[in-house]
Amino acid sequence: MKIAMIGTGYVGLVSGVCLSDFGHNVICVDKDPRKVEMLTRGEVPIYEPGLDVLMAKNVAAGRLEFTGDLKAAVDGADAVFIAVGTPTRRGDGHADLTYVMAAAEEIAEALTGYAVIVTKSTVPVGTNAKVRAVVEAAAPGKAFDVASNPEFLREGAAIDDFMRPDRVVVGTTSDRAKTVMGEIYRPLFLRDFPILYTDLETAEMIKYAANAFLATKITFINEIARLCEKVGADVKQVSKGMGLDNRIGNKFLHAGPGYGGSCFPKDTTALARIGQDYASPMQIVETVIKVNDEIKRRMIEKVLDLGDGSVNGKTIAVLGVTFKPNTDDMRDAPALTIVPALVGGGAKVRVVDPQGRREGEHLLPGVSWLDDPYAATEGADIVVILTEWNEFRALDLPRMAAGMKQARMADLRNIYSPNDAEAAGFEAYAGVGR
Ligand code: UDX
Repeated sequence: MKIAMIGTGYVGLVSGVCLSDFGHNVICVDKDPRKVEMLTRGEVPIYEPGLDVLMAKNVAAGRLEFTGDLKAAVDGADAVFIAVGTPTRRGDGHADLTYVMAAAEEIAEALTGYAVIVTKSTVPVGTNAKVRAVVEAAAPGKAFDVASNPEFLREGAAIDDFMRPDRVVVGTTSDRAKTVMGEIYRPLFLRDFPILYTDLETAEMIKYAANAFLATKITFINEIARLCEKVGADVKQVSKGMGLDNRIGNKFLHAGPGYGGSCFPKDTTALARIGQDYASPMQIVETVIKVNDEIKRRMIEKVLDLGDGSVNGKTIAVLGVTFKPNTDDMRDAPALTIVPALVGGGAKVRVVDPQGRREGEHLLPGVSWLDDPYAATEGADIVVILTEWNEFRALDLPRMAAGMKQARMADLRNIYSPNDAEAAGFEAYAGVGR
């Protein structure tokens, strides 16, 4: 199959590289010439474990290339994937479809024969039908179909998620498009990964419903965590006890500082808006958005409590600022709420993050960046663990405590326990929900 991938952001690049690894000929297109240049040089603009190696392998095999020329990429393609950004529109919370629709028009003009136009970007219900209308209007008489093929990739585990998915969802009612999509995902189908064919609107809805459900699950356990603190229960054990029920499952029940990232905040907001538009309010999702915001702010209070009510003049070491480990992504990270509040409260903040510095330097003014957790905590009053990077999971806590001015820890990912902290010589420890 010959595939054009429009957009080399996170989703487009991972999908393009993985599809080329399936043996397809993939051309990735981006409007940004610097990005195309960088990719052509073999450099990966994002941090995603394993992506550089897989990209180099498929470029060397002659199956993967990068270009700014959409027309050439679409010429003769069996499928054209739209993987451009759909940011939250300022003001009304809707997904901004400008880039998707512009791509659809350009593709329409470039079509030279039958192709399936596949939307990978997360788009509101009804968008694929609009894409079809736009292409029909821009290229009357040309043969094409549209399909919705939402992604379920987790940052940091995206390649594995693509290669070993829980499911592939393909929304299209055209048999011809189904055959093309079946051919594209054949390597997965052969290994028994389920492919679910639906209509366009259902595929669009599955993506929002899945992400909103996961965001709800996290927020639910975060609320339970708060109550655990009040009643003296341990949320880690509560999660375990709940998760052993197969109907609930043990995933996405880790209490923490609130969800962040490029998907959950954006998708929950967009789903709430869709609900409002159709006079079918998503009341649970609306509450989840509100509660998640409160949870992030409550983390500030936890740190203030450790500082006996104020962080003014105190030195605070923050371990981890990305929204989760194994990514350099800071989008909607809890750190963006918590760190500025500490700086604003008069604290001297030192940050350590294995990948977050490049983005974080712009987003978190007034902090100093260090590479070593022990150097960052030397002489500090409070250490805050905000992202559960592996390198923070096995710290030499006695060494850390001995170097601190006041050995106090806010462990907002529960990677240690009150006992660990006490045994190491910490005088105060605050986890989440225990
Ligand atoms: C998510 C979805 O998992 C993926 O399927 C989707 O298509 C894109 O959005 P991602 O945003 O990369 O992926 O990260 P994920 O691992 O799902 O974590 C999201 C957020 O929830 C992070 O901030 C994480 O720290 C938080 N989280 C997750 C918890 O606080 N507790 C949990 O138990 C799980």
